[in-house]
Amino acid sequence: MSSVFGSVHILAMIAIQLLLTHSVSSLNLTNAYLHHKCSNTQGKYKQGSAFEKNLNLVLSTITSIGNFRDGFRYTEEGEDPNNVFVMFQCRGDSYWSKCPPCISTAVSGLRRRCPRNKGAIIWYDQCLLKISSVASFNKIDYENDFYLSNPNNMSDRGLFNKETSALLEKLAYKASDRNNLDGKQLVLYAAGEKRIGTKKVYAMVQCTKDLIFTKCFECLEGILRKFPQCCDGKRGGRVFGTSCNFRYELYPFLRNYSNSTMRAPY
Ligand SMILES: *[C@@H]1O[C@H](CO)[C@@H](O)[C@H](O)[C@H]1NC(C)=O
Ligand SMILES: *[C@@H]1O[C@H](CO)[C@@H](O)[C@H](O)[C@H]1NC(C)=O
Ligand SMILES: *[C@@H]1O[C@H](CO)[C@@H](O)[C@H](O)[C@H]1NC(C)=O
Ligand SMILES: *[C@@H]1O[C@H](CO)[C@@H](O)[C@H](O)[C@H]1NC(C)=O
Repeated sequence: MSSVFGSVHILAMIAIQLLLTHSVSSLNLTNAYLHHKCSNTQGKYKQGSAFEKNLNLVLSTITSIGNFRDGFRYTEEGEDPNNVFVMFQCRGDSYWSKCPPCISTAVSGLRRRCPRNKGAIIWYDQCLLKISSVASFNKIDYENDFYLSNPNNMSDRGLFNKETSALLEKLAYKASDRNNLDGKQLVLYAAGEKRIGTKKVYAMVQCTKDLIFTKCFECLEGILRKFPQCCDGKRGGRVFGTSCNFRYELYPFLRNYSNSTMRAPY
């Protein structure tokens, strides 16, 4: 299939304000808008159409029904050819009651930025929301990657790249480990930290929970290959797809980091 949304690479500059507003010592839990894509190929729906009705129904109920223990939902509303697929995934530290506020923000953000689009994705710090007329369960989306990075460089670029990549790689293994379960469900998320010289790097990786563990690993390996483009020597960086993403910073940006990763020797 050809690109549904087209691919995009955002230059570092966009992230400057976002990344420079943090200090090492304070945990500021932001939920900044990051990016969106309106699908051109899926077209627009008409006012009063069955698609609109289905979309309105699913978006009006999405934050009020069900539980948010895994911060994820993939749901379908209506019947072919007017069915709507909606997926959201909250960040791994933003489940339960932390999740619905981000989704509400994302719903209004998506409606404002992609009015009447049948397909659209919006990214925030703490969640992702996607609507589509095309099913995507357990399919890696390779078409909508983008990255954000802090324009400032580390002095020891080589060491920093090597050690940060190694941390992310380790987290990718952990996130996609089939034995890394929350009850019976795959966790598909991992966070950790690591000392590099005098600095400490904080990092996370995550997949959307429609993926099976092998696909999660495949997705993460795909975006980790973009580390050189995104993140070469940068003091902070993130690569996003729709199906997975990673982030690292020199300050803590999550509500908590897992103990096992923190204690692991490097
Ligand atoms: C963190 O957030 C607090 C409250 O919103 C703000 O006063 C403070 O300046 C922020 N710190 C940084 C480093 O942005
Ligand atoms: C973060 O901490 C809370 C409460 O201690 C816990 O319920 C939650 O599972 C933790 N999240 C992660 C990702 O470890
Ligand atoms: C970081 O390094 C790159 C590549 O060497 C350079 O183009 C860029 O200007 C540097 N950024 C800063 C803020 O010095
Ligand atoms: C994580 O580490 C903290 C501090 O070392 C400890 O108090 C806490 O019980 C640990 N949590 C788990 C789930 O092991």
